[in-house]
Amino acid sequence: MPEPDARTEAAKTRYEDLVLVEDRGRYAVLTINRPEKRNAMSQDAVRRLREALVQVRDKQAVVLTGVGPAFCAGMDLKEQAQLIGEHRYSQDVREWTTVQSEIRSHPAVFIAAVNGYALGGGSTLIHSCDLAIAAESAQIGAPEMGFGGFPTQAGPSAVKRVAPKHAAELILMARRVDAREAFRMAIVNKVVPDEELLSEAIAWAEQLAGFNPVALDWGKKTIQRMENLSWDDAMDYCSITSQITSMKSTASREGIDSFLQGNRGVGQGA
Ligand code: COA
Repeated sequence: MPEPDARTEAAKTRYEDLVLVEDRGRYAVLTINRPEKRNAMSQDAVRRLREALVQVRDKQAVVLTGVGPAFCAGMDLKEQAQLIGEHRYSQDVREWTTVQSEIRSHPAVFIAAVNGYALGGGSTLIHSCDLAIAAESAQIGAPEMGFGGFPTQAGPSAVKRVAPKHAAELILMARRVDAREAFRMAIVNKVVPDEELLSEAIAWAEQLAGFNPVALDWGKKTIQRMENLSWDDAMDYCSITSQITSMKSTASREGIDSFLQGNRGVGQGA
């Protein structure tokens, strides 16, 4: 991976460099690279991130991080100010919502490596990732209330991912928390010294990349499905789906073999 210091020199980042993709075999590192604007998500940056997400669909784990003093300073406020009141504003917001769904439904397990400011949309990215590690210098918050608005994505994602009173504090008080407090609020899994952030995130990605890819993919999806289920429903969901899956894999193989041997069952053949 290029040295962050070399990249921060760029006055204006080229479109293809807005998100850097580093392929490491069974996992990848995605780096938001617009340090001069604190990795604010312009329309181009959002588009480029969506392309990068497609590029890493064959991975088991993805580390998401940023260049410079910010992980991501949220949506590009300059662009937003120009778009407010226009039809394109809602399209823009929708596209950012789509990014969150694309991370949540992605086959890879996502680890946010929070290297600095994660504000507004930057905090949404953390909530969308499956796991998160913060550098000691990270600062996380949803400052939208201070702009006279509700955090339309950072708000709901915080409500879904942290305890209700913590979410209310972040949203209603526009509270920016440091890494230790983010850990206490369970926004991140771990806090490490700044210089250890990437190596720690990469060690986590390497561990994930060693697991069975189907088990990992199902594991990620199952955790999401269970979020709103009762204890009994969650237990039932897992035992029913695992039984169907194991039955289906054996039964399907037998069915296909039988078809290939010339046998025709119900609904097969002319
Ligand atoms: N959108 C667009 N540009 C942004 C931005 C954003 N969300 N956040 C920072 N920038 C730009 C600044 O306008 C500035 O550009 P300029 O050099 O052309 O003037 C540049 O990034 C550096 O910002 P600056 O504030 O000088 O950096 P800093 O290191 O002192 O502070 C932040 C960094 C992230 C704390 C601060 O920029 C900030 O609070 N940004 C707004 C974050 C926010 O409220 N996000 C939620 C959006 S709803």
